Amino acid sequence: MSEFEIVSLRSGIKSLRMVANQETFHPGIGPMAEARILHVEQQRLVERCSQPGKFVIWDVGLGAAANAVAAIEALIGCAADVEIHSFDKTLSPLEFALANQDDLDYLVPHQVLIQTLLEKKIAQVRPNISWHLHLGDFREVMLRKDLPSPHACIYDPYSSVSNQEMWTLEHFKNLAKRLDPAVPCLLTNYTGSSAIRVTWLMAGFYVGVGASVGKKAETTVASNHLSLLDQPLSTEWLTKRQTSQSSAPLRETQHLAATISAEDFRELAGQSQFQ
Ligand SMILES: C[S@@+](CC[C@H](N)C(=O)[O-])C[C@H]1O[C@@H](n2cnc3c(N)ncnc32)[C@H](O)[C@@H]1O
Repeated sequence: MSEFEIVSLRSGIKSLRMVANQETFHPGIGPMAEARILHVEQQRLVERCSQPGKFVIWDVGLGAAANAVAAIEALIGCAADVEIHSFDKTLSPLEFALANQDDLDYLVPHQVLIQTLLEKKIAQVRPNISWHLHLGDFREVMLRKDLPSPHACIYDPYSSVSNQEMWTLEHFKNLAKRLDPAVPCLLTNYTGSSAIRVTWLMAGFYVGVGASVGKKAETTVASNHLSLLDQPLSTEWLTKRQTSQSSAPLRETQHLAATISAEDFRELAGQSQFQ
């Protein structure tokens, strides 16, 4: 039996679902529409790449490449020298997607490019846009010193329920440290979870409200520079965390929903975003 299946979303658009965890890639409004709102628009990719200079995108969880393809399509003709670094620990979603292009038609125009990426681990999209593939566990691969630090981090592993190791305070502290303080970086994701917002804040990120997508009223963005956030989480939001039942940070040892401890709350309230 295949690891993945094609599912029809309410909109009629098709997407991929992993059978084992029953998680649909881009479940709301479909792969390309969601990728454009969550990542291309929120990252302001077109504007940030409109000037010459290097711009690095980390595409975490390449999966079936919808986010990467949406970024590439938006950046054709841009002035910056763009490096897209895609990370995944398996190529099976992309191979399945390529075999099902009749249903996932966003891949069709990019078939040759993707085949090159799979074979050579690098594909030249345009003279100024390169696409690099890194196979392995992102938590370890991201530490490699030869990888350039990102300006944009499109963070899209599976959810914190089925992919816990990618959603721990320990991992996000490593990620925050791995960014270059001199390079403002925005991280975009579909989550609206309080626990994840708390986890990101305690890891050292500034955290803000992200765009609404499909039926989701708000998602979440994070950055190493406050100036990249349009709507930073407020002190009112912070106050409510004391009584919320899912405000404890997600740790390797404690990943269940719980109310934040007094000690963790003191640390959370001390983050510079709230000073
Ligand atoms: C929801 S899919 C990503 C969808 C994809 N961004 C797209 O646009 O089609 C999640 C992906 O994250 C990958 N992933 C999960 N944990 C990972 C890890 N620790 N390191 C690297 N990739 C991981 C999975 O293998 C899977 O392909």
